[in-house]
Amino acid sequence: MNNVTVVDHPLIQHKLTIMRNKETSIAGFRRLLREIAHLLCYEVTRDLELEMIPIETPMSEMMAPAIKGKKLVFASILRAGNGLLEGMLDLVPAARVAHIGMYRDHATLEPVEYYFKAPSNLQDRLIIVVDPMLATANSATAAIDKLKERGANNIRFLCLLAAPEGVARFTEAHPDVPVFTASIDSHLNELGYIMPGLGDAGDRMYGTK
Ligand code: PRP
Ligand code: URA
Repeated sequence: MNNVTVVDHPLIQHKLTIMRNKETSIAGFRRLLREIAHLLCYEVTRDLELEMIPIETPMSEMMAPAIKGKKLVFASILRAGNGLLEGMLDLVPAARVAHIGMYRDHATLEPVEYYFKAPSNLQDRLIIVVDPMLATANSATAAIDKLKERGANNIRFLCLLAAPEGVARFTEAHPDVPVFTASIDSHLNELGYIMPGLGDAGDRMYGTK
């Protein structure tokens, strides 16, 4: 599929298997999501442009590579996005953060927005939107609509699991936004859950039901 990268590194796949297991504890689930976020972050930032800057080591002056341009923005779709966000910030601690509060109405599967706070200058910054689950893609599509309304013009979407239906819907709605995921699962069930999936990511992270 165009514009969709499945990051199939063995460490990610191994950790994801443990996350899928319903016997995995909340603490284990959270820790693994953070660890996988490190590995996915590595992949989604692989092609960032570098520039040479002057520094002094204890031995001499040199020109050394540093990431070019404005600070990255990570946009977390609440709640479950925060699990990926924490791991991303471990690797890019200076990134700016947007929070997009959204939950799926269980009957309609439409997103209900309850919070939005983002840096004011989104234009010409790389914005990486994070949410572990891309199911119908209603939430991700709405979140990105909102970011584009605020001027965002360079966006990537990072998730842990995707349904083929969600990938199709998302890439149709936002063909300019590359998707990075650790897996594209089999299908969505009649309740809009990813199969075989891992259940409700937010509930498994926070011990809610
Ligand atoms: C989950 C998930 C996504 C959304 C995916 O969030 O974290 O945001 O569902 O489903 P979709 O692709 O069909 O929109 P949820 O609504 O359960 O909220 P939560 O993170 O607060 O638990
Ligand atoms: N949201 C989740 O947390 N899990 C799914 O399988 C679908 C949407």
